Amino acid sequence: MNASPDPSAIDRRLEQEHVAFRAAVREIQAELDRRRQSRDLAGCGETLLAQLDQFGARLKTHFEYEESGWARAEASADLPPATRRWIDALTCQHDDFRVRIERLVSALSSSLLTTSSLPATFEGDLSSLLADLTQHEFSEARLFQRSMFEELGGFD
Ligand SMILES: [Fe+2]
Ligand SMILES: [Fe+2]
Repeated sequence: MNASPDPSAIDRRLEQEHVAFRAAVREIQAELDRRRQSRDLAGCGETLLAQLDQFGARLKTHFEYEESGWARAEASADLPPATRRWIDALTCQHDDFRVRIERLVSALSSSLLTTSSLPATFEGDLSSLLADLTQHEFSEARLFQRSMFEELGGFD
């Protein structure tokens, strides 16, 4: 008999990570605001680069953890097609976020090296990534609730 992960432990870990993401997003947005308002911008780009780099690493770990949980759910023969499609869409979004955050880190890094400034589209691209991530987390929360209480009957 397989040892199933403890659903409350999964729930706790995901909630802790989502809280940490929301805090990281607020820190990054505060850094962007500080940059807009301050005349003393020395070091700001490096701070953003370090924040983004750390945020990207955390996201990758988080995505892998979520995807391993979804793979267990998808192994269930009676998983409704709509739920499979929902999981597939969220997994595609993870791929998109991985690419976008890597592009942002790489563009920021090379721009700081060559011009000591942010890339022209950086703030807009980052804001749109953070907004899309927030929507993604809402969608996951809805899927998790539906899976737990309406269709899967939990992870056991
Ligand atoms: Fe996710
Ligand atoms: Fe998530």
